[in-house]
Amino acid sequence: MTTILGLETSCDETAAAVVAGGRRILSNVVASQVEIHARYGGVFPELASRQHIRDILPVIEEALSQAMMELGQLDGIAVTIGPGLAGSLVVGVNAAKGLALALNLPLIGINHLEAHIYTLWTQTPEIEFPLLCLIASGGHTNLVLMTDHGQYEPLGQTLDDAAGEAFDKVARLLGLGYPGGPAIQEKAEEGDPKAFDLPRAWLSGTYNFSFSGLKTAVLYLVRRLEEESNELPLADLAASFQAAVVDVLVKKTRLAAHEHGVKQVLLVGGVAANTLLRQKMSRRVEIPVLYPPPELCTDNAVGVAAAGWFRLEAGERSGLDLDAVPSLRLT
Ligand code: KG4
Ligand code: ZN
Repeated sequence: MTTILGLETSCDETAAAVVAGGRRILSNVVASQVEIHARYGGVFPELASRQHIRDILPVIEEALSQAMMELGQLDGIAVTIGPGLAGSLVVGVNAAKGLALALNLPLIGINHLEAHIYTLWTQTPEIEFPLLCLIASGGHTNLVLMTDHGQYEPLGQTLDDAAGEAFDKVARLLGLGYPGGPAIQEKAEEGDPKAFDLPRAWLSGTYNFSFSGLKTAVLYLVRRLEEESNELPLADLAASFQAAVVDVLVKKTRLAAHEHGVKQVLLVGGVAANTLLRQKMSRRVEIPVLYPPPELCTDNAVGVAAAGWFRLEAGERSGLDLDAVPSLRLT
């Protein structure tokens, strides 16, 4: 079975994974930089690229060691080329090119959003087209119709903040730390999602999203509450905010799934780790909703290697002039 090494350095995780036949995970190693960026409340691009340089080789070695493989046993190299931070992406791309050249292996550049989608091929034996993907992460919120391997039709996207970005910004506002998604989810467990009536931007007639108005509404609400009392009702605020984001994501996904008559819905990206989103999506969308385990929702190289296998099988190859494309689109 063809064994692919996947590399991912698009943001603040240095990741390498070995996947056989596009489906069987032999190893999955992620070096997170969360602690480095936490004090800035978000990713500091210059520090991210420096840390990738430190981590990339040990992470690759660990991925091979966990897979109990030598470099010479690999059959191909796949790497994220974008979208992402330029200085971070080039670390992975250069490492991949070096390996492909030294080992004389086929090389394939992968879109980061495609990698999020393909993590599911390692989890579920039967994935049926056409399917609808909701990709919700720190950098993206996209609804994409997928008609076949590598065939994408974008239906909508965020016009301002990504869903995960909204979680991160509101968490910072509430003093809950970084990354915001898990912090808000935890706080929301003790709160009432109906405590505050926060706005939902429906943008009716489109599959686009907007979360910046919601973020601003939380800001004004927090200011008003701070004038009234010394102590903020953090749990109620977190629960009300989370409910507003989840409502919009679920309703739009449900509408798009019906309109396009898809067989399945794939929920991927960091925000797909959110328990409320997973529950409500499964309950309200009438067709099967698939999502990866939480550790494969956030950035990893498993999906890079899986997507790489499918593209290499289809005869695609990237040249050694492969470059990072920070604003790469999924088309
Ligand atoms: O996919 P990812 O690791 O990186 C990007 O490609 O952006 O997504 C990270 C984002 C962060 O904004 C983080 O706050 C969010 O995913 N996230 C969550 C949860 N876990 C991570 N958002 C909501 N609920 C969660 N449990
Ligand atoms: Zn991502």
